Amino acid sequence: MNLNHHGHVSPREYVVEVRNLSFSYGESQLVLSGINFNASSGEFICFLGLSGCGKSTLLRLLAGLEKPSSGEILLNGNQIKGAGLDRGVVFQDYGLFPWMTAGDNIRLALEQKFPDWTKKKIKDTAIHSLIQVGLDESVYRKLPKALSGGMKQRCAIAQAFAINPPVLLMDEPFGALDAVTRSRLQDMLLSLWSSDESRKTIFFVTHDVDEAIYLAQRIIIIGHSPGRIIYDCVIPEDKKPSRETQFEDLYLLRLRNELIRMLNSDAK
Ligand SMILES: Nc1ncnc2c1ncn2[C@@H]1O[C@H](COP(=O)(O)OP(=O)(O)O)[C@@H](O)[C@H]1O
Ligand SMILES: [Mg+2]
Repeated sequence: MNLNHHGHVSPREYVVEVRNLSFSYGESQLVLSGINFNASSGEFICFLGLSGCGKSTLLRLLAGLEKPSSGEILLNGNQIKGAGLDRGVVFQDYGLFPWMTAGDNIRLALEQKFPDWTKKKIKDTAIHSLIQVGLDESVYRKLPKALSGGMKQRCAIAQAFAINPPVLLMDEPFGALDAVTRSRLQDMLLSLWSSDESRKTIFFVTHDVDEAIYLAQRIIIIGHSPGRIIYDCVIPEDKKPSRETQFEDLYLLRLRNELIRMLNSDAK
């Protein structure tokens, strides 16, 4: 951590700074209120909360798809002005254009991000990204409708990683998948994230306590009406679960109970 000569953490330490963020859709009541947090480079943060608490709204604000009603969101010290290729997004509904093949979907994103790349480099990178997420090269020529939910979500993740953004925003990306596919994709995501030489900062939305514990280094619980931070905890590296220990380790079981208790105490 960089301490300056006053002993304060230099603000540049943080990739994302959210200050006194409040938000409402139009004139209606506040969806989010008084949200404050900082995220360090390479952190894997889960936003955990009950349905309707404002998780997707918070992610849309980070994506620049909505503007704060008050407060601000800084990305590398600059206010977010709109959507940008410095943030990848993966949503539950896959986000692939249905009329384009998986390969063309990924190529389109690459062409936007790297306009000076050759056609060959773009194609090679797109194929490499599919292989990286465990897909066969043949998926390149397939339309999304010819792919299973798990394969579509792998494609969406391949696309997000291909453009190599420092920040990745994921909104319940595995919510529609069966349990086995879901755990495979969780492992795939963790291995992509941890093998990166410059790790991405990931904001991952889920309402699933066990998914949050398995994936995150840090869990932020968003309470209800208005959405606000009611809990913020770090899971130390040496306490992170494996599939085997997640439901046996005493520390993790206590954490799980604590998170469920926080969620329940907030439910109305
Ligand atoms: N486009 C919208 N216009 C008006 N209200 C919305 C819109 N999107 C979401 N909301 C409302 O904002 C609140 C938070 O929604 P959302 O962020 O989707 O919650 P979550 O993702 O945690 O389930 C809900 O009350 C929801 O009805
Ligand atoms: Mg949502």
